[in-house]
Amino acid sequence: MRVVVSIGGSVLVPSVSSERVRTYADAIESLDADGYTLGTVVGGGPTAREYIGAARDLGANEIELDQLGIEVTRLNARLLIAALDERAAPTPPEDYETGGEAIRRGDIPVMGGVVAGQTTDAVSAAFAEYVNADLLVYATSVDGVYDADPSENGDAAKFDEMRADGLVDLIADLEMDAGSNAPVDLLAAKIVQRSGIRTIVLDGDDPEGVERAIRTGDHDGTDVLPAGVNDPPAEWADR
Ligand code: UTP
Repeated sequence: MRVVVSIGGSVLVPSVSSERVRTYADAIESLDADGYTLGTVVGGGPTAREYIGAARDLGANEIELDQLGIEVTRLNARLLIAALDERAAPTPPEDYETGGEAIRRGDIPVMGGVVAGQTTDAVSAAFAEYVNADLLVYATSVDGVYDADPSENGDAAKFDEMRADGLVDLIADLEMDAGSNAPVDLLAAKIVQRSGIRTIVLDGDDPEGVERAIRTGDHDGTDVLPAGVNDPPAEWADR
């Protein structure tokens, strides 16, 4: 089974320390040892926000800020590469082709950002599409997709399962409200919609829960099913 795992910067590196990175590396190594083909994408988290905030105060423009954000995602990616040791490609692939080549070689690519104007949510969806992944997993700081922004609306309800068309509509609405937090960005949702790849959005604070979701399909987050995706992967059937 081929899986792309998107690990939010705020779940992998909430502060710069080894503990969370180690437990993620353990989960990835365990899946790798059992024959899963893995690609990973790491976000920038609070470190990216700090750098971007400081550089904005210093007068950097938005593209310069994005480039700074990309550098931080790659810095975080290098922490996971350090923990995965020789199983990982030695540097964060800077484009999808290089990431795909790493997978073909049998290495685990750990990507960060690739180009200004987007986030690693979109990188993850595009990379999953590029490598024909069977499953895309967003390990994020929210525990699923809600019908409204849960930080703004106490009555917001979580979807156990939804269609990708519904995700695109929901996020387009959320992004209209300035300041609201979407679980993944609109470009990512649109790539998921067209890719036909089964996607899970779940709480990334528990790497073992992320591993279980990949192995069994069992999780407390949200399954996002593009049109035409109905049956669970065969690998989950006898779990
Ligand atoms: P993230 O993917 O971590 O952004 O990339 P985010 O979604 O804002 O972070 P979280 O999930 O809330 O923690 C960090 C920044 O890097 C730039 C963007 O500026 C982004 O906000 N970036 C990242 C790019 O410009 N292009 C990319 O491909 C990836």
